[in-house]
Amino acid sequence: MEDNKVKLEVNELSYIRIKGGTRLEGVVSPDGAKNSALIQLAALVLVDGNFVTLRNLPLISDVYDSIEMIKEAGLKTKLVNNEVTVMGDASAFEFSAYYGSKIRASLAFLGSVLGKFGQVKLPLPGGDKIGERPIDIHVDVLEAFDIDVSIKNGFVLAEARTFPLQGSSVYLRFPSVLATVNGILLGVLAEGKTVLNNVAKEPEIVDLTNLLTKMGARITGVGTDRIIITGVTGLNSTTHEVMPDRLEAAALMMSIVMTEGKGTVENTIPEHNIPLIETLRKCGVEVIIDDDKVHINAVTFEKGFQVETRPFPGFATDVQPLVTPLALKCPEESVITDNIFQERFSHVDELRKMGAQIDRFNNTIHVKPNNILSGASVQGGDIRTVVTLINAALSIDDDSKVYGVEHLNRGHSKFIEKLRLLKADIEIIL
Ligand code: EPZ
Repeated sequence: MEDNKVKLEVNELSYIRIKGGTRLEGVVSPDGAKNSALIQLAALVLVDGNFVTLRNLPLISDVYDSIEMIKEAGLKTKLVNNEVTVMGDASAFEFSAYYGSKIRASLAFLGSVLGKFGQVKLPLPGGDKIGERPIDIHVDVLEAFDIDVSIKNGFVLAEARTFPLQGSSVYLRFPSVLATVNGILLGVLAEGKTVLNNVAKEPEIVDLTNLLTKMGARITGVGTDRIIITGVTGLNSTTHEVMPDRLEAAALMMSIVMTEGKGTVENTIPEHNIPLIETLRKCGVEVIIDDDKVHINAVTFEKGFQVETRPFPGFATDVQPLVTPLALKCPEESVITDNIFQERFSHVDELRKMGAQIDRFNNTIHVKPNNILSGASVQGGDIRTVVTLINAALSIDDDSKVYGVEHLNRGHSKFIEKLRLLKADIEIIL
């Protein structure tokens, strides 16, 4: 049975052509959340003879790579439009270097495969180049479950000393998102009680545990610093709708704001983007929250702002690049600090090519006020940087080229079509 994938065409000369200066207007919706879908797909290695259907799946290359990893684990998948059904019983705990090394979320297969088999051979992960991304917290979590871990020839090799796993008490020295996922996936089928301390509270964690709870897992405390899991002996079939992508919603809000447009991002969960919405309001943007809609009603740039990234519910590191072009428009200096990924500033050099005046001091940038930008040919090396550069280009009454379509395809489905729906003059040139 062939999965019905959308072809994501791209070659090394592909770029996004943008003629900026048009005020965006209209109504747009984000797709399902990439970072939710990826960890939920990894979790489905625990399916065990049943079947689980995930709806609202974003059709992006990271999702396709995760589906290939599920197949490497021996499960069957059926992908039709935005819905995937995963069925069967996993039969393999070793993965090729090919798919797993392309994405960071492949790390979540550590938890599910070890929960299922007590052993795993997984390539070291890939993902965005946004600074140091060690895996020591993941190793701490595995070791707390009495799992022996080593790294050899680019692979993580891990084997439980006792299997079935025994519930454990785990402390994360930092609330890493994917390490929290691994703690949850290890605890779900472990015998007895697992207590995970200092865990991540990101909405993607909540969405994962909603799926697992529907499958019969017993998990409490999600969204707090401590998650408690009582192990069960097996999981059931279910259907789950992946939550809307808060980062795509943020990107689309910023597209409207940067063009001084007026529009609505709907089918979103506005509470996931409160730090961004409050920052916009501080700058002078009129933002109205109405149930599952965020209306950008009127855009004026009245003040500069300061943001510091923090784990959720703080200001998201993934949104940090997106507000840098906003700072360029403000009439006062703005200061942006990334405490999560200290090197996440590759957008700064590219924005400078457009004329931006930004000073960087370690993990902090000072953005000078009232920048006058001009169109340029720029390169995005990760998902959020490509979108940041697109938004900057949309704000300029000039022509720009943004390279990095392959990164856009990793994280967003039909993003350019969404912008065209808002009347942007933009297209992908293959
Ligand atoms: C997730 O990455 C997301 N990726 C990232 O989104 C996101 O930026 C990040 O969480 C923070 O919110 C996926 O969900 C696939 P972390 P993750 O472990 O889990 C340090 C995007 O654009 N750390 O929470 O890998 C780490 O260096 C991507 O969609 C260790 O020191 O992030 C960082 O400073 C980019 N040791 C901090 O913790 C470890 O073992 C937070 O990282 C693990 C992490």
